[in-house]
Amino acid sequence: MSAHGPILGIETSCDETAAAVVSPDGHILSNIIFSHTVHTAYGGVVPELASREHAGRLPSVVGQALEKAAVGWGDLKGIAVTAGPGLVGCLLVGLAYARAAARARGIALYAVNHLEGHAHTPAMEAPDIEYPYLVLIASGGHSSLVVVEQPGHFREIGRTRDDAAGEALDKVGKLMGLDYPAGPQLDRIGHSGRADTISFPRARFDGQGYDFSFSGVKTAAAQDWSDRRSGKKPEVNLSDWAASFELAVMDALCDKLFRAAIDLKIRTISVAGGVARNRRLRNMVDEWARREGLRAVIPRGEWCADNAAMIAAVGLYQNACENPSLTDAFPNWGLGKPYTTGSDK
Ligand code: KG4
Ligand code: ZN
Repeated sequence: MSAHGPILGIETSCDETAAAVVSPDGHILSNIIFSHTVHTAYGGVVPELASREHAGRLPSVVGQALEKAAVGWGDLKGIAVTAGPGLVGCLLVGLAYARAAARARGIALYAVNHLEGHAHTPAMEAPDIEYPYLVLIASGGHSSLVVVEQPGHFREIGRTRDDAAGEALDKVGKLMGLDYPAGPQLDRIGHSGRADTISFPRARFDGQGYDFSFSGVKTAAAQDWSDRRSGKKPEVNLSDWAASFELAVMDALCDKLFRAAIDLKIRTISVAGGVARNRRLRNMVDEWARREGLRAVIPRGEWCADNAAMIAAVGLYQNACENPSLTDAFPNWGLGKPYTTGSDK
């Protein structure tokens, strides 16, 4: 063990088996992501299959991460592992592996919150980032607006009242006949489309804080799609249709992000999570920030999707678990909630 060595990160909360190594000064030395493809045929993540994939793939993914970083087990200071939120069986695979490896090597174990990992990616992208910064976390399971006061100190000021943004994209994409996850394909199809072709509704909750809602736009889009297929409404070009739907979702996200930044006088805004890979969203955030005179920090794509680099990076500033062998998975662990009381078992 090395008291000042690098940290190995492990992420298995959903359908990416990932491992990464971060140096003590925050450089990402490797970032290996294995995205499961077994779920495609089922139109969504099958938890049992995901757990099995993690169990089968994790040892080789970890091996690749160490090899790429040119780091041996004996060089490590510790292992940072996602302990929640996520699918419990999936989390337990990563935890069991990390606990055993930490114990066998006599190194520290860090139990990391997956959402904290996402919220930290802007600071990885821009190490000179000013605190507080505002981050929009938009993924398949979460959509929330978070003020990051300091590394590890958060204030969630808005969240979705129903579906996550990625969930709405994936469900509407499924109706369109796209494979799971549909978000990246909608990005491709809609990228060159005319986004003002159809005006889909946006939930705004004006004057009621910064919550999101995507069930309305999801239902409206599903209805519109079926009306156009059945001839009730005139057909439109697929790319224009996808662009219009994408815009409705991204516009609702940007509206809250920028309104909160202006109200709270926060000068740096950022995006994180899988949906933050979306090119329309990235362009919109960039343009709005320029218009409002704010700094936009948009993490590179491989740090927006689920990855272990963000988990390892949180391990750098977090305290190690006092009793690694009792470290457990917390499937509903809320961002900013202490690990000991994050339990929902
Ligand atoms: O953060 P993430 O990888 O996993 C979760 O923690 O959920 O996010 C996955 C979500 C999926 O809903 C996927 O469709 C969406 O991110 N996504 C995208 C794009 N890439 C991934 N959505 C829109 N455009 C993309 N390019
Ligand atoms: Zn995620």
